[in-house]
Amino acid sequence: MLADKTVILGITGSIAAYKAADLASKLTQAGARVEVVMTKSATRFITPLTFRSLTGRRPVDMFDPDSELGIGHITLAEAADIVVIAPATANIIAKLAAGISDDTLTCTVLATRAPTIIAPAMHDSMFHNPITQDNLTKLKARGFTIVGPEQGRLASGDVGMGRLATTEKIINIISNLLERNGDLASKHIVVTAGGTQEPIDPVRYIGNRASGKMGYALAKAARDRGAEVKLITAPTPLPEPVGIEAIHIRTAAQMKQAVAEAVIGADALIMAAAVADYQPKSTAKAKIKKTSPTLALELVRTPDILTEVTGNFLKVGFAAESHDVITNAREKLEKKHLDLIVANDITDRDSGFGSDTNKVTIIDKQGNIDSLPLLTKREVADKILDRVVELLAKR
Ligand code: CTP
Repeated sequence: MLADKTVILGITGSIAAYKAADLASKLTQAGARVEVVMTKSATRFITPLTFRSLTGRRPVDMFDPDSELGIGHITLAEAADIVVIAPATANIIAKLAAGISDDTLTCTVLATRAPTIIAPAMHDSMFHNPITQDNLTKLKARGFTIVGPEQGRLASGDVGMGRLATTEKIINIISNLLERNGDLASKHIVVTAGGTQEPIDPVRYIGNRASGKMGYALAKAARDRGAEVKLITAPTPLPEPVGIEAIHIRTAAQMKQAVAEAVIGADALIMAAAVADYQPKSTAKAKIKKTSPTLALELVRTPDILTEVTGNFLKVGFAAESHDVITNAREKLEKKHLDLIVANDITDRDSGFGSDTNKVTIIDKQGNIDSLPLLTKREVADKILDRVVELLAKR
């Protein structure tokens, strides 16, 4: 699994930096090409020469005019199959959470599309500080994998949560991610996201509170697992993900058209979008003035995209419910001829609109019900994709 893979090993300034030598050595022995990137403070704990000797490659420094890599961090970011930061200090975690890029390591992480693992090591009190915890939550929500830290004796002599995860554990996670990374390779996945907007007049529309976060997380997770992804998105403030073809639409009718075109040759359609069920019967050409004390809008049904779309691909729907969640979701699964439905209770505060977390139940055609715990939307996305991979393999 590790043979011929390019692993970027980021090392930051923690006393646990010496343990990165063991990791670099084992990864190299397993056949990986290990490119080490050290922060300045890491070099005060352990020398670049150690890693050069262990990996046979000179640690990369983007400010090195003699580097064979050209623009070091970009070349590295593109070559990476995986990035691992071990040990990761509270400082690097804070910088990544804030999007700061001021050295080779932070620039590489910001520029890469490869999955990134963070293995924190620090004093227990720094790890449990709410600032560090918030930063880790942010990174998790963005798709980073956090490994450890573990409980044990710390450099200060105290016992607590802060020890770098073991080399074995880190290598296991790397292998899992590399393996999983490819399980959607060459598959075409269409994802819809966000809430459609149905215009009333040139200024106003009927919208809903969908944030697009679940759909974007699905699109990115599918991309990271090797899929060719088309993301059909209603307006959201989220940044357009790299490596994904984004198709911007506004209304349910436009989404229907975009979906019909995108599903040609697709392996799966995942409808995470909150599609308006009704649209104004007509859109006023000019802004409606407040001339009368009341105003009635006549609404007509929008097309049901999932029900109407046809083709030989997996169909995954969502069911946003406020009551009788499972019963209603099962009905939708049948009515819309879905392979899977992902149900969530929108009255649950942690899984509501705009939240970074979600608590869902995945139901399949056979009636299997899998109730997941509260997870980040990225984690939920990977759970859904695990099922998609499973179902695609059976076809
Ligand atoms: N959906 C769709 N087209 C619509 C409405 C919904 O394709 N016009 C899709 C959604 O993207 C979602 C699934 O159908 O994957 C269920 O959406 P939901 O809003 O929960 O259900 P509805 O079918 O709209 O039923 P209701 O609003 O009555 O619960």
